[in-house]
Amino acid sequence: MAILEVEDLRAYYGKAQILQGINFGIEEGETFTILGPNGAGKTTLIKSILGLVKTEGNIKFKGEEFTELKTHERIAKGVAVCPEGRKLFPNLTVEDNLKMGAIGKDSDDMLEVVYNLFPRLKERRNHIAKRASGGEQQMVAIGRALMSKPSLLLFDEPSMGLAPIVVENIKESLLKMKDEMDVSILMVEQNVKMALDLADKVAVLVKGRFVKEGDRSSLGEVEKLYFEI
Ligand SMILES: Nc1ncnc2c1ncn2[C@@H]1O[C@H](COP(=O)(O)OP(=O)(O)OP(=O)(O)O)[C@@H](O)[C@H]1O
Ligand SMILES: [Mg+2]
Repeated sequence: MAILEVEDLRAYYGKAQILQGINFGIEEGETFTILGPNGAGKTTLIKSILGLVKTEGNIKFKGEEFTELKTHERIAKGVAVCPEGRKLFPNLTVEDNLKMGAIGKDSDDMLEVVYNLFPRLKERRNHIAKRASGGEQQMVAIGRALMSKPSLLLFDEPSMGLAPIVVENIKESLLKMKDEMDVSILMVEQNVKMALDLADKVAVLVKGRFVKEGDRSSLGEVEKLYFEI
């Protein structure tokens, strides 16, 4: 079953149209990654799904019309976001940041799941978030998104600002997460390795339009095209 269906999605800031009619679907358990350069509209796409920008067109989540729902209602239905720039609560501990993601649900079992995925966070659970390294902070942001047991996880450039070795670590954790958990993923990225190694299917977004789409068999072509942009 499709978990997310997006049809002719257009997004606007005031009169400026940023997304020019985007179409895609994500099946249950699938990971769809979108590569795009700065300003392509990646964050706008994530915000559109969350109901944070003005949109036209159609978004369905688990077969249900999403377009008229408010952000908190969409989240309550099982969408979670790991936002651009992480947006942690800098003065809270790692563990309290994680608990913020549980949106009122009991958090103990999910804390164990997150700590199993990121053992480093268990060691650092009582540390203040702003003192954690960039990689640890990104792990907190991912863990926090998982705490609400979402069926769809939205990732906005999880590799941003991280050294290649740290990106590799996070990617390994996400591959493990994909393996062990029942979750579908929509990821927007500029980092080709992060995007393509996780993808079941992929698209390239330029100036608010998909210029290329494909499944795993076309990843090589997509990579080549992306480097030509
Ligand atoms: N709040 C806003 N008001 C007006 N224009 C905006 C706003 N946010 C973004 N834009 C514009 O929309 C376009 C797409 O921005 P968006 O943030 O979606 O790009 P992006 O692909 O996420 O880029 P990046 O890789 O830099 O994060 C850009 O031209 C940007 O200047
Ligand atoms: Mg962005």
